[in-house]
Amino acid sequence: MQEAFFPVCPVCGKPLQRVGRTLQCEHRHSFDLAKEGYVNLLTRQHKKADATGDSREMARARRAFLEKGYFRPLADALIDLLKESGKEMPNVLDICCGEGYYAKQIKDAADCNLLGFDLSREMVRLAAKRVPDALFFVANLASVPLPDRCVDFAIHLFAPFHEPSFARLLKEDGRLVTVVPGKKHLFALKEAVYDTPYENDEKLPQTSTLRLAETRKVSAEIFLDNAADIRALFSMTPYSHRTKREDLLKLEQLETLRTEIEFVLGVYEGS
Ligand SMILES: C[S@@+](CC[C@H](N)C(=O)[O-])C[C@H]1O[C@@H](n2cnc3c(N)ncnc32)[C@H](O)[C@@H]1O
Ligand SMILES: [Zn+2]
Repeated sequence: MQEAFFPVCPVCGKPLQRVGRTLQCEHRHSFDLAKEGYVNLLTRQHKKADATGDSREMARARRAFLEKGYFRPLADALIDLLKESGKEMPNVLDICCGEGYYAKQIKDAADCNLLGFDLSREMVRLAAKRVPDALFFVANLASVPLPDRCVDFAIHLFAPFHEPSFARLLKEDGRLVTVVPGKKHLFALKEAVYDTPYENDEKLPQTSTLRLAETRKVSAEIFLDNAADIRALFSMTPYSHRTKREDLLKLEQLETLRTEIEFVLGVYEGS
């Protein structure tokens, strides 16, 4: 029997079912579907304890940049990995889905059941608008309201790593793909801004319950022909929070940029 691939109630853990414009469990805990089709499954207790994820501005900047296809080679590599798994209608989970760029590429390229979640309501709202034939929900990585061992293929891109959740969610033969920046990722951007740019260390997360089955490298060169895209790209990097004012001024003067993108994909298997 195909196990359920649908959220469970974040309050009592029982399966949720669609009833009109809500999702409800047998205990009548009820969660409204927003007009874009997503659902907020953060409990009040979690809402208080959690930060709210990325802001509206970050969501928009990310969407504008990704929509131009600069990171398309990464999406293609994810699609290849999914197809190579050879499963018919796999259950795919986009963990910390952001505004849904990768979910959209996957859904367009492969037949699959797709769910995605993020802590940021704005990200989830944009993702739901972008991919109407998938279900997105607001939830925290630390307590994902999904049944155990329901995921065939998970993507986890540029977000905190949470091994206990991943180990619980993956089927025995399920796979999770995570990404770290390759040595040369955005090196020309760093050279333009810093006096002594350094290469990334390509360190994948160390795990004890998941097994690193495979690594893959994706490299390409991209050309940004306007200052807005350069700023958006920079704002998506971790450096944007820790760059000195004088270095930021150098960034603001850049009109075009040709730079490497390089990703190391780590493919983990459940146990
Ligand atoms: C850098 S963005 C990446 C988004 C998307 N994976 C992509 O590559 O376009 C990181 C995302 O992780 C989400 N996030 C951070 N902490 C989270 C948590 N504890 N639970 C769920 N989502 C979280 C943020 O809201 C944000 O959307
Ligand atoms: Zn319930």
